[in-house]
Amino acid sequence: MRRGLVVALGSLLVSSLAVAKDLRSAVESPDATKILQKDKLPPPKKYKMPKGCMTTDKLAIERGKYIFHNLNGKKAKTPPPPGLPKFVVVNGKKKPKQYGNCVACHNIEGAKGPGNVGPDLHNYKKHFIDTGVRTYAYVYQQIADARIYNPKTHMTINLTTGLFTPKEICEITSYVVSPKKEK
Ligand code: HEC
Repeated sequence: MRRGLVVALGSLLVSSLAVAKDLRSAVESPDATKILQKDKLPPPKKYKMPKGCMTTDKLAIERGKYIFHNLNGKKAKTPPPPGLPKFVVVNGKKKPKQYGNCVACHNIEGAKGPGNVGPDLHNYKKHFIDTGVRTYAYVYQQIADARIYNPKTHMTINLTTGLFTPKEICEITSYVVSPKKEK
């Protein structure tokens, strides 16, 4: 009886060692390393806001708004405003254009089902720009690469990752600071 138990425990130990060995080889596989490298973010980058970045152009602000409130060109329920594609071609493959989905974390005028991980951006101009608490350049940098202000930010990195162009960051920034009528 005893001997049987010892043998059983012994084989259990051997089998768990075998499992441990398998896991180690998976972690060390060159393929896994490649995937980890690919997912690594480029280092934080400080940006200078481009000349003529801030705009009151209605269509530019519409594009910024659309990027703010939508996830991508496939999920969006309404077509994008002129100048903003629904699909893009990456490595010869047609893919839905990624948008900002900022509403996942921020409430703002007209937001549907917003998240609250990030600060509420209602009346942003009145509360933050007109009071001098924030500059346009600050907001541009926050949206481009927030790690410059908070290395551990949970916010998405939008310019350094190439998710958006500087022009698109300008349009999103212009939308955030624009006066809004909706509640
Ligand atoms: C995953 C959550 C998340 C997403 C998605 C997100 N943010 Fe943020 N955002 C945050 C958090 C958290 C902060 C607070 C500061 C920090 O931690 O960086 C913040 C801060 C900000 C601020 C600064 C407010 C201030 O003056 O203090 C702005 C502006 C902003 N976000 C705009 C955006 C825009 C535009 C998008 C979409 C392109 C976006 N955020 C997407 C989480 C998010």
